[in-house]
Amino acid sequence: MEHDSEFHAALAALAWQIDLGADEAIGEVPVNRYEAVAASESVVPQPQTTAPFAPPAARRAVEPPPEAPAVDAVAEARHVAAAARDLDGLREALAAYEHCELKKGARTLVFADGNPRARVLVLGEAPGRDEDMQGKPFVGRAGQLLDRMFAAIGLSRTAPDAEKSLYITNVMVWRPPQNRDPSPEEIAMMLPFVERHIALVDPDVVVVMGNTPCAALLGQRGITRLRGKWTQALGKPVLPMFHPAFLLRQPHMKREAWADLLELQAKLRVTA
Ligand code: URA
Repeated sequence: MEHDSEFHAALAALAWQIDLGADEAIGEVPVNRYEAVAASESVVPQPQTTAPFAPPAARRAVEPPPEAPAVDAVAEARHVAAAARDLDGLREALAAYEHCELKKGARTLVFADGNPRARVLVLGEAPGRDEDMQGKPFVGRAGQLLDRMFAAIGLSRTAPDAEKSLYITNVMVWRPPQNRDPSPEEIAMMLPFVERHIALVDPDVVVVMGNTPCAALLGQRGITRLRGKWTQALGKPVLPMFHPAFLLRQPHMKREAWADLLELQAKLRVTA
């Protein structure tokens, strides 16, 4: 009975608000009005001095709390990444890292896939929708093309043999909203983790796919200019290649990608 009358009272209050024109929820997040009132009531009323029409103290905005000291998110990333002793430790360090806003919008942390003993580490950009749902890098259409590309030179993420296997990870472990490009700040935060990741896997070569990993590892963009040319980063040979998502949009560029795969195969033979 009592609940019944509470329900009708709440409904009547809602109808009253709608009559007043408040018929739309505008804020992104709910506001607890009880807390706001309690906080404003705790403000000591000030005697009126000059302005006769100044709002009563109880209705004045509550002073914002003093700002917390700024955190150096990159320094923190460096510190926790360096402390990771192995890949599990690195994954845990990433899971506990709270400074990257992308984490809030992502479903899962996409860490890596493949064989950690592989000679080739593939570094991509960031998880997309499929990767975010499955928690593994490169599992959508671009990932299927990536698998076919590397299979053409005898490499696979599922091969147990280190000689024939791949290890795959991304610069970003959280999906950016609407698959937007990660910002330079977000890349800078992830870089210490990427560097530690590469050090722990210790591959013979790193293949960077697309502009984001080139920006992160090489400090350069312009994949069309960079692709197919070996360079060095973190003491490893690095080969930039077109991203498979780009190749899906520009299939005529697959010829270049094929040349790059043959280049990789040749490098693996000479460094065997
Ligand atoms: N694109 C990437 O760069 N990485 C993924 O994991 C998926 C798509």
